[in-house]
Order: sequence, then C-alpha cells, then structure tokens
Amino acid sequence: MAGTGVAGLTAALEARDLGLRVLVITKAAASAGNTRWAQGGVAVVLPGEHDEGDSVAAHIDDTLVAGAGLCADDAVAAILADGADAVTRLRALGAVFDPGTDGKLARTREGGHSAFRVVHAGGDATGAEIERALLSAAQDGRVPLLDNHIAVDTVRTATGAVVGLLVLDPNGVPGVVSAPAVLLATGGLGQLYQATSNPEVATADGLALALRAGAPAADVEFVQFHPTVLYTGPGARGRCPLVTEAVRGEGAVLVDALGERVMKGVHPLEDLAPRDVVSAAITRRMATEPGGVGDHVYLDATHLDAELFRRRFPTVLAACRSIGVDPSADPIPVSPAAHFACGGVASTVDGRTGVIGLYAVGEVARTGLHGANRLASNSLLEGLVVGARAARAIAADIAACLLADPRAAGKAPLPTAPVADRDVLQRVMSRYAGIGRDAEGLAVVGSVLDVSAVDTLLKTKQRVEDAALTLVARALIAAASARTESRGCHVRTDYPDTDPAWQHSLAVRLNPSGQP
Ligand code: SIN
Repeated sequence: MAGTGVAGLTAALEARDLGLRVLVITKAAASAGNTRWAQGGVAVVLPGEHDEGDSVAAHIDDTLVAGAGLCADDAVAAILADGADAVTRLRALGAVFDPGTDGKLARTREGGHSAFRVVHAGGDATGAEIERALLSAAQDGRVPLLDNHIAVDTVRTATGAVVGLLVLDPNGVPGVVSAPAVLLATGGLGQLYQATSNPEVATADGLALALRAGAPAADVEFVQFHPTVLYTGPGARGRCPLVTEAVRGEGAVLVDALGERVMKGVHPLEDLAPRDVVSAAITRRMATEPGGVGDHVYLDATHLDAELFRRRFPTVLAACRSIGVDPSADPIPVSPAAHFACGGVASTVDGRTGVIGLYAVGEVARTGLHGANRLASNSLLEGLVVGARAARAIAADIAACLLADPRAAGKAPLPTAPVADRDVLQRVMSRYAGIGRDAEGLAVVGSVLDVSAVDTLLKTKQRVEDAALTLVARALIAAASARTESRGCHVRTDYPDTDPAWQHSLAVRLNPSGQP
C-alpha cells in the first residue's frame, strides 16, 4: 500500500485485521500528508448524535447539490450510509472528537450543509487527531511501514496486471516490492498550483502511476479551490495556512476592502454556499478592485466571541497571529487556493480500478462521491469508508490477484518520462487553469508543457514528482479543454453556462505514446 493518510492507514489496519500481510510505503515521513492538515472535520450523521431533522438522506441531498449533477448517486448513497460505522471504528481506535454542551459530540456546519453535522477534534485540528490515532494503531508492529520510499512505477505482467511497485529508497537506490495487490492512497495534486492548502508532498504521484498502468482517470478537471486560505502577502507560494470553513460556520462573513459583504445576494446560503460558488464569487470580487488587481478579501470574525474563537480555532488563531492579525480585532485577509482533487483514478466504492491488482482510495481516487465539487468535510469520511471497503475487496480478490504470476512481469528498470520545470508548470497552471479558464489559456499551458517537458530518467524523488505533475497537468488540461461548459469547480469563462449535454464524467486515458 502506498500512502499514510486517513485512507491508506484505514485500509492497512483493516487488511491487517483480515489477516492479510501488509507493507505500507510512503515517500516522506508517515505524518507528512494532507490528512494532518485537515481542519473542519468529518461530515457524518451519527445515530443519537445528530440534530433532530438531520438524516443520512439529507446528507446525501447536500452532497448531490454540491456535486452539481456529476456525483454517482449509488456511490454517494453507499459511502454516506457507511459513515456512522466508520466513525465508530475510528473512535474505537482511540480518536477523540470534541464534546458538545448537550452531552453529544460537538457539531459544526460548513458550506453546502443543511445541518450541523460536522464533528471535529482539537477545535480545528481534526485531521491531526485522526492521523495520530491511526498511526498509533498502525505502529503496533503488525503493519510494517517503509517511510521515505517513493513509488516510481507499477510492476506489471504482460497482460497488464499489477504485481508490485518499483521504488526508490531514501538513497535513491531502486528496488522492487512484489505484491499481488497494490493500493494507492497517495493523496492529491495541490502542488500543480503556486498557492495551495496542501503540503509539499501533494504531487499527484498515484494518479500518474495509475494512468501509466492503464487505469482511466475521471473528473480531473474539477479541482476545488478552498475559498479561504490565509493571505500572507503578494505572490504567496507553496502551502498556505487554511482558515477552516467552520469559521464561517460559526458566523464569520466575507467582506471586501470596503467592508461590503461578498456573498450577499450571490447565493441563498450566502457565506455557507458550496465552496465552488464562494471561491468564484471571491475571485470575481477581487477582479473588480481598482485595476482588477485585488488578490485577497477579508473574513470578518471580529463579532465572534474571542474565547470561543480561541477554543474552537487554535490552529487558525496561531496562523493569524504569525502574521500579526488578531481575529477578534482585525478582519482576516484570505484568498482562494488549490485545495482538493474531486476527480482521480476511476474507482469503485471498494477501491477497484479495473486493472487487476490495482486499487485506489482517498483523494487519489474518483469514486463519484464528489462530482463536480466536493461537499465540505466529506473527504475524511470517504477515506475512512472506502479505505476499509478496499481492504475487504482486496481480501475477496486476493486469490484472483495471485493468479497474475509476478514472474511474468516485465523487467522493472527505471523509466523515463517527460518532466517540466516545476516552477514554470505551477505558474502557467495558476494563471490559466485555476478558477476561471478558457480555451486560449488552456492551450497556452499545453504548449508551454510541450516545449519545456524533457524526457528524463526518473532516478530521483524530485524527478518522479515532477514527472507526475507534468503528466497530470496534461491530463487536467485535456479534460478542461474538452469540457466546454461551466460546472462546479470547472469555470470556463468562454462557456459560462452549465450545459445539460455535459452532465457526465469525462474519462482520461493515456494513448500508446503515453499522452493523455
Ligand atoms: C475546512 O476546514 O474548511 C476544510 C475541510 C474540507 O476541506 O473538507
């Protein structure tokens, strides 16, 4: 298994409990992925805990509305119905959620939710608590974990079955890990962009690996931009601190430099509208600043109780203070940044990809839960549910996987792949393939990548990552160019309307020359 976030660790623990032999590899430290940065929480309807009037059916409805017509209804129903059990299992492993004043778990509300159903931990440190609990459960000696090993490629038989991974060890020495089943839980692709809420490890590695293994990707054009990361100054780069949507859930509002509400009149849910709507509204408002050069707006939380803010949002408070902002006195400067890949490796709700021996879970996978725009706090839940289901699927499939004889695998020399300069790639992706795209700009990205990408031997971690970013950027550009409409997080300024004819997912595969 590759990846040590919520989905990968959940899968590894479940597989271990099912008696499978598991090896988990991760390219950095085990806790370096996206999970530990998740703030808001886990969206789930827990029997006996949720407000009267809330239900799994309402959670399903909210998810479908946010997904703008592209969710797979059966996947949404299956995943959300399993949510309560998944959270119960997580709590049994030791994860502690914040208690409310009513003797139940505390629940908050985020964009697109019709009810207070997001449970959280450590105030705004939900991901960190989940990562802590899962890692400590996994570190009992029965889940061997190889950190600082990056997967370069899958090892495949002549018939295309995946029978292992080619990896680089921390010294760059290649080696093969043979396994009848490989599960990708490698997270997202925020590093395609200059500014992102994602840590530096989010370089689309698993999606590139799966595409090269012949698995199709779907919905890759739908990259969700979080409306509010902390604005730290012009030209912010790399991971930007998140200002969780739960701050708006507690009553904070978005305002522009003149103090005018950004979301008033834009959507009935105003500041708690689905994320795509809020990010697009902020982007429009920034463009109407004198000269169209605005690069941030403000989140006004000054009217919230300062003690509540301190207790509920310790992570946000620390980030604000680090730039000299006191949220009880000053509006918090914020701007949108790349946050979440709604698409990914086309997978079932059991993690199956259609390629024998290859499974995908978590952000790298596209199960159909998120459609064109993920509902806030549905991703930790998806990782918990689909991670466990994929382990069960592997246990069920293992006999068939073992029929793919690893001795029939081709040799596994280090491959070459086109690699573009990361800085150039991030600049053109941010400029032309972020919120608001058009045919001309997308074509610019395509030609910049064509000119700058050079075939390179993937013998270092940096090259493996850059090759993944290059391939996935091309896949994203191909899908975004083809989808001539605006829907969810995919906003085409040259096709501003949603087109019912496009109410279907777009699959991307590689052609025989390795191009999407
Ligand atoms: C947030 O806390 O605003 C982010 C949670 C999420 O992305 O679901």
